[in-house]
Parts: sequence; C-alpha cells; structure tokens
Amino acid sequence: LRIAVLASGRGSNFAALLAARERGELSADFVLLASDKPDAAALQLARMAGVPTLLLEPHDYAERRDYDAALFERIAASKPDVLVLAGFMRIIDGDALKPWVGRMINIHPSLLPKYRGLHTHRRALKAGDTEHGASVHYVTAELDGGPVIAQTVLPIEAGDDENTLATKLLPLEHQLLAAVVSLIADDRLALTDNGIAFDSEPL
Ligand code: GRF
Repeated sequence: LRIAVLASGRGSNFAALLAARERGELSADFVLLASDKPDAAALQLARMAGVPTLLLEPHDYAERRDYDAALFERIAASKPDVLVLAGFMRIIDGDALKPWVGRMINIHPSLLPKYRGLHTHRRALKAGDTEHGASVHYVTAELDGGPVIAQTVLPIEAGDDENTLATKLLPLEHQLLAAVVSLIADDRLALTDNGIAFDSEPL
C-alpha cells in the first residue's frame, strides 16, 4: 500500500506509523510526507526516514482553494493509494478532497461526533465529561464529520487538565491510527455506499 501523510506539526502520529512499519506491523510504503508549515518537525522525521517530502506554503497562493488544488495535485503525482491526515491543521476545500473520499483518513482527538474542530480536550473538561478519546474517520467535506472507523477511550480523572489529557491520549492515538492503517494496508477495511466494511480476510 502506498501511503501519503499530511502533517502540519510535531508529527508524532506519523512517527508512530513509521515505527509500526519498522516493527513489521504495517506493510506499507510511505511515498510522501506533505506539510504546509516549513518548521513542521514531521518534515525532519520524514527526511531522516528517507520519506520524500513536499512543503507547500499557503502564503504563495491567493486563494485557499488554489492552495488546496495545488497541494493535492502534487500529492497525486506520488500515486498514493491512501492519504493519512496526521495533525494536518487545515480545512481542505471540498473539490480538492472529493477524488480522495474513501481513501483519506484523519485522526481527531475526541470521541466524535462530540467536539469536532479545535480545543477538544478543553471542551471535554469544560463539559464535565468522565471520558475522552480519539477517533479515526474517513475524511469527507464535512469537517471531522466523515464515517468513524474506530475510537480509543480513556477516563478523565480528577485533576486532569488539558495537558494531562493530551499527554495521556497521544500514545492511544498512535496505537489507534497504526491499527487502522494496518487494516487498510491488509485490505480489510473499505468505505462503501452502505458504510464501512470490515473483514477478517482481505476484501
Ligand atoms: C494529534 O493529537 C491529533 O489527534 C491532532 O493533532 C495532533 C497531531 O499531533 N489532529 P502530531 O503532529 O501527530 O504529533
């Protein structure tokens, strides 16, 4: 499976995918790491891992949709089978992502459909939730709104704040994302018109 990863920052989810591959738990090739931020640590991780990188900066484009069109055109040139948004902090124009629906997933740090968008840990705490988590979902034009593939859950404990929650959640995100990408790599997961198909054997 040819995977392109999009990341805007630290890249720990991308690193988790690379580590899963090193452990032999993910049979995939990373054909590209694309970023919108020149200082994204994910770019450094990719260079060290020998993964081709693409940096495209939004300020070089007059319109958001022009940037998105250029970004996905360049990504398509790497011929990926699947796109993984791993901390990619842009809302993607519907036209640019349309060709990828069913082949693009995102990891979001909340128990969707709760807390789409930003500041999810803070919002869960503010709501007095007793549990929090992360979701991997297929990307559609609706922000953080596509079909949820899998979720990981952790309890919110007394004394938790935004930072402790984010810190406890991150390793669980890494496990969740690597497990889902591995299922896709083994062709055991697909988005169909009737929803998500999962199989114990390759589909
Ligand atoms: C993760 O918490 C992810 O759920 C959210 O942004 C963060 C990215 O972290 N979308 P990293 O760049 O993968 O370390």
